[in-house]
Amino acid sequence: MRILGIETSCDETAAAVVEDGTTILSSVVASQLDTHGKYGGVVPELASREHLRAIVPVVREALDSAKTCLGDLAAIAVTAGPGLAGALLVGITYAKALSFARGIPLIGINHIEGHIHAVLLEATREGRAIAYPAVALVASGGHTHLFEVREGFAYRLLGKTRDDAAGEAYDKVAKLLGFSYPGGPVIDRLAPLGNPHAVRFTPARMKGNPLDFSFSGLKTAVLRWVEGHDLAGEIERRRELLRSTPRPSVAQWMAVTPRRTLDLLASFQRTVIDELLRRAAAAAEKIGAETLIVSGGVASNSGLRAAAAEAGLPYAVLFPSPDLATDNAAMIAAAAFPRLMRRERDDFSLAAQANLPLA
Ligand code: KG4
Ligand code: ZN
Repeated sequence: MRILGIETSCDETAAAVVEDGTTILSSVVASQLDTHGKYGGVVPELASREHLRAIVPVVREALDSAKTCLGDLAAIAVTAGPGLAGALLVGITYAKALSFARGIPLIGINHIEGHIHAVLLEATREGRAIAYPAVALVASGGHTHLFEVREGFAYRLLGKTRDDAAGEAYDKVAKLLGFSYPGGPVIDRLAPLGNPHAVRFTPARMKGNPLDFSFSGLKTAVLRWVEGHDLAGEIERRRELLRSTPRPSVAQWMAVTPRRTLDLLASFQRTVIDELLRRAAAAAEKIGAETLIVSGGVASNSGLRAAAAEAGLPYAVLFPSPDLATDNAAMIAAAAFPRLMRRERDDFSLAAQANLPLA
């Protein structure tokens, strides 16, 4: 059973063909980095325009490289939310058109459930059974959520960020310091070169739900540190580097980044990782989890992966491979497979839902 997945919730136009929920026959991701990079964040209007340009060739490439024609498809899965409304609409409209023209079942998928399925897909493919209940930590540029996951893909929200998402904190700190967008990958590569204990940031204390996150205080603390240390010169040198070299290497970044700034990045990253893992562990303890699933763009962070491995947690900890951690359409097709098996489908009233909850 082949499912075509389509994902346009943010700044990646993606399409994939996945067989039986586990075998990725193709996965095409067209990034809009060159469009948004110079603004240091995603510009919604530009995202919609770029999706419109890319959607037809990206879907065609996914079908071609999977040696699949529309007639072979058992379903078309498309991200219905959460995400940017205009961006979601491009994928949904195209999915509906294909579905209508060829009479192929349409299945709307929650983007966050997609991120969780990125991990389930790989585990199933490798023949590893997931022990439930599980806790899923989904951390990306748009969300930082903790869910309880039960057998049969039932979800319960345990906690979420009250302000910035973890990836958003990376992106904002990178922008503030003159690094490239998105901030996660560059900070991930530079943080190991600094001392993670050099700058002390106070962990966020949450009133109410202790499983909620907050990252805006940390971002402000980094801003205060920068203001107190006269970094204007080096920030300008990094911005200059970015103007002349769209994708600088680690060595090029290091040439314009003094030790104290590497220490700042290392300390920032350590704080984010501590916050994520501390609450994930508390959530796992609360529900007696047998498995911790970590997914979303931030799950590709090497420091987070190492810290989770070193923590010696008393349950399985599963990360997706890096390609499946960031936005892609294979995870959307995989999430649709159990729904297809249950004969669930959507009709043409399927709408873009910018704040679609997962419950
Ligand atoms: O899941 P994703 O591709 O898109 C959203 O749904 O938001 O996640 C993108 C986010 C960005 O904020 C990016 O900075 C962050 O994930 N990210 C990382 C890393 N790679 C991407 N954050 C930390 N370390 C990384 N290696
Ligand atoms: Zn995402």
